[in-house]
Amino acid sequence: MTNDGTLQVTDTRTGRSYEIPIVDGAIRALDLRQIKVADDDFGLLSYDPAFMNTASCRSAITYIDGDKGILRYRGYPIEELARHTTFLDAAYLLLNGELPDKDESQNWSREISHHTYVHENVKKFIDGFHHDAHPMGIIVSTVAALSTFYPEAKAVSDQARRREQVVRLIAKMPTLAAFAYRHAFGLPYAYPDAELSYPGNFLNMMWKMTEPRYQPDPILEHALDVLFMLHADHEQNCSTSSMRIVGSSQVDPYSAAAAAAAALYGPLHGGANEQVLRMLKEIGSVDNVPAYIARVKAGELRLMGFGHRVYKNFDPRAKIIKEIADEVFQVTGRNPLLDIALELERIALDDEYFISHKLYPNVDFYSGIIYQAMGFPEAMFPVLFAIGRMPGWLAHWQEGSADPEQKISRPRQLYVGAGMRHLDGTLD
Ligand code: CMC
Repeated sequence: MTNDGTLQVTDTRTGRSYEIPIVDGAIRALDLRQIKVADDDFGLLSYDPAFMNTASCRSAITYIDGDKGILRYRGYPIEELARHTTFLDAAYLLLNGELPDKDESQNWSREISHHTYVHENVKKFIDGFHHDAHPMGIIVSTVAALSTFYPEAKAVSDQARRREQVVRLIAKMPTLAAFAYRHAFGLPYAYPDAELSYPGNFLNMMWKMTEPRYQPDPILEHALDVLFMLHADHEQNCSTSSMRIVGSSQVDPYSAAAAAAAALYGPLHGGANEQVLRMLKEIGSVDNVPAYIARVKAGELRLMGFGHRVYKNFDPRAKIIKEIADEVFQVTGRNPLLDIALELERIALDDEYFISHKLYPNVDFYSGIIYQAMGFPEAMFPVLFAIGRMPGWLAHWQEGSADPEQKISRPRQLYVGAGMRHLDGTLD
């Protein structure tokens, strides 16, 4: 902790001055409570809709500098991790604070493979979904339903129990995701293959047909691994904050992760990659790009895959994704939507509206184009995001659960509704 001095404030309502400590570049909102106009006054609140300027926790997991385009997991730059480690090792890093050594890495990977199976009843309730059910809806429901199979997960203060659920959630996400996909297409469920890597096994469960053993293409397997890693954590985003907030009630992690997945489903968060593809298809050709940009500037639409609450210069994940796109297209053939995306990016990055609003391509702008080239239907895009983000949600859940400063989350409000009134029409 760095003690940075104090903030002096004078309340012009009373003329009184206060000294408020500044620690780690922040004041404690509770220190404002002493600022009152009368003894029975509740005290001053800070008002911060959408938490634009409020730190809700101390965290040692992920560092972002939005102006400089920096993203680090436990201190390691995302560029180095993406080049030299695997998604599962990055998950281990997020959860445990250090990268695993060779033995730890092998054991961790084996442990995850061992837990990829789901109870056969899970298939039964996936069968109950309508054939065109959105797979993200299936994921939200099935992740929550896992809590009913593991009632011991309620022991959230038992560290060993907590770890068991962490392993299960990371291990079972690809299985639930692939089953959701297979259900939509009326295909038989393909079971996990413990001999394959984490992304390789997922590809196996997605695409295996009559072949005795599915062999993933190593380039696609690697690309998927990198994509999962790029999505693994992004500090206090909407879904991770949901995980922490719901987890703060001490509910089991399956229920909390279902809430996080629900938050991710929205088009402004993890649902954006799906919307990017729909947008590119709607634009239809490079010639239509200028007219589309004009509609965005007129406020009619948002350019999906552009802009970020935190990154205001560039999104480092988008840069890495663009690099792996080329590798993927060498296997799958070039996605025709790429030309529209490149033209959109070119015009937008040169346009005064986008420059002044600091709008740049985010992680979702190119990931959807890659997923589509790999054969994933659009509705699966947010599901892929959810698989990648699970370790981050769990790392934050663990950290929040162990933080002695945390309590059940319960924001305040500024009440602006009716004053006291009575059913007989009289007012106080
Ligand atoms: N297209 C056009 N204008 C935009 C866009 C966009 N994509 N994003 C923001 N703006 C404008 C917005 O209209 C506003 O303009 P003005 O000040 O003139 O009214 C200004 O920029 C600030 O927008 P905001 O909504 O206050 O910004 P925010 O920080 O609350 O929103 C965002 C961040 C990501 C929700 C937003 O940029 C957006 O809706 N982008 C499109 C959806 C998207 O790609 N989401 C994925 C985010 S990255 C993956 C993840 O981590 O979830």
